[in-house]
Amino acid sequence: MCKKLPIPDEFIQELKARIIIEDVISSYVRLKKTGRNYMGLCPFHNEKTPSFSVSPENGFFHCFGCGVGGDAITFIRRIENLDYVEAVKLLAGRVGMTVPEDGRDDGMGRLKTRIYEANREAARFYHKQLYTPGGQQALDYLRKRQLSEKTIIHFGLGYSPASRFELVNHLKSKGFSGSEIISANLANQSKKGYPFDRFSDRIMFPIIDLRGNVIAFGGRIMSDIKPKYLNTSDTPVFNKSRNLFALQFAKNKANGQLILVEGYMDVIALHQAGFENAVATLGTALTNEQAMLIKRYCDEVVICYDADEAGQKATQRAIGILRPTGLRVKVLTVPNGKDPDEFIKSYGEQGSARFGMLLEKSGNDIEYRLNKLRSGFNLKSDEQRVEFLNRAAVLMSDIENPVERDIYAAKLSAELNVEKSAFLQIVQRNFRRKENKFKGEEQRRAANELSAVNDRMNTEKRFRLRAASAEEALIAVMILNPDVAIKVVRRVNPELFITSFNRRIYDVLSDRVKNNREITLADISGDFSVDEMNSITRIVISHTRENDPWAAAEKYILMLEDEAQRLTPEQIENSDPEALNEYIKNKLRKMKDKKQ
Ligand code: UTP
Ligand code: MN
Repeated sequence: MCKKLPIPDEFIQELKARIIIEDVISSYVRLKKTGRNYMGLCPFHNEKTPSFSVSPENGFFHCFGCGVGGDAITFIRRIENLDYVEAVKLLAGRVGMTVPEDGRDDGMGRLKTRIYEANREAARFYHKQLYTPGGQQALDYLRKRQLSEKTIIHFGLGYSPASRFELVNHLKSKGFSGSEIISANLANQSKKGYPFDRFSDRIMFPIIDLRGNVIAFGGRIMSDIKPKYLNTSDTPVFNKSRNLFALQFAKNKANGQLILVEGYMDVIALHQAGFENAVATLGTALTNEQAMLIKRYCDEVVICYDADEAGQKATQRAIGILRPTGLRVKVLTVPNGKDPDEFIKSYGEQGSARFGMLLEKSGNDIEYRLNKLRSGFNLKSDEQRVEFLNRAAVLMSDIENPVERDIYAAKLSAELNVEKSAFLQIVQRNFRRKENKFKGEEQRRAANELSAVNDRMNTEKRFRLRAASAEEALIAVMILNPDVAIKVVRRVNPELFITSFNRRIYDVLSDRVKNNREITLADISGDFSVDEMNSITRIVISHTRENDPWAAAEKYILMLEDEAQRLTPEQIENSDPEALNEYIKNKLRKMKDKKQ
């Protein structure tokens, strides 16, 4: 019943010995040493005060805010969205080890690998088409849009032929099956069941992830037919809300700042003009996940969306998503309703220098929003002036830095001829109000998320609180004390475990113990999903080391034996909810009485 590990234990042991968890995690999170642990802002939920902790001693991480946790492998699985084998491979690469090849791929892992390969082959194919007679007009189009040969190659641009079968046939000749090609979303399936090219007669933009894999494509039509762009739908290797176009280049050129634009063409024009820190979303509005991704590579984002109404709306929205991550946000508005690509081109040789000037002048988002706000008021009227100042004070309460707040207050009060200190007071009041509200919200959300996570993994827990708690305590003792684990396994049958999630954990632990295998979090993480690992880590972390672990284990075993006399899960399932509620209330009352 216990599934076979795809990677040999010895390999994981060796890997574990070489990995330094705080090094792995600090490529994604800024960590600060506090006592024996490290703390930082959790990369898995938005927060302003650090509740994400890394324990070098135990080799695991845990967020007290949202409840995620696990070992280094679990961390990589979650943050890179990889399966277990892929995460092990990535970590192994970091420490110069190579995963043994035999039998390592599970089904999903194999399909993903095939999709990466098919995508890479497709990108190569599309690119080559540019230099065939059929692709001539596509190449002309790119040249007309002033892309250099170097840029075309750098971005791997290409052309998808008009006939609906050329890519499919090419990929088949390279050994890809129809279903692999369809899984990659390179082809659609006809009513009769055969695959035909998804992209036809379009300029192709490969989308590449941070490890250099081709994960998707955007395809632009060269005429006015809609849709202008056709993108790859989500596939096992592609999630459009988790990636950014050109981030693989931009992350190395960020130097603290990324430029966020709307279109693929804007990104390419900017890179060609020397602004290689530009990225774009993939045909959707900015998501929280993308904001967290941006946060990993810089402290400051310049939003440079189209000047039209849709672009301005999107700007306001993006500010609302980026600011809570703690990023500094600036807004660059390109004059005369142009997009960045058009702007640069309209100045020819000077395009790059001109854009550089805009970039330097770009105000931060507060300035941008104040200007927007100001334009809605007639400041000659006293009444409107007061109203504007009140609204401005609310807006400025978004600024966390008091020095920065002071600067804007000084500017505004001078401009409108009011007392600076009076204005600042209104701002401060709004700031405190907002901060209190935020703190309350953050705590509430964290608590909710935490209990939601627990409930999802162990749904029986709320019916069998005492049993589940004893089970968890026993599991924690075992993981923290391998010698005690051996004794527990000799004494306790899995049937003693009442909740099935905990029983499954115990099954894995006892199986490993019987086979003389280790049971640290890192060792067992291949047997569980990342969500399950969250729960297991929480179990371990919420139990401190016992002075006499075997005595503690015996106490928990006794509790379980005692619990076994009570209602069984089947009985619980079959009893009506009212009666069950009564039963639980009684129990809780009894437990309270015992404590007093
Ligand atoms: P734009 O229409 O601004 O495109 O859409 P663009 O990149 O400036 O392209 P050119 O200059 O007209 O050639 C911005 C982005 O929105 C997504 C694409 O990611 C595009 O780059 N989009 C747009 C789609 O996904 N589908 C569409 O039909 C249109
Ligand atoms: Mn454009």
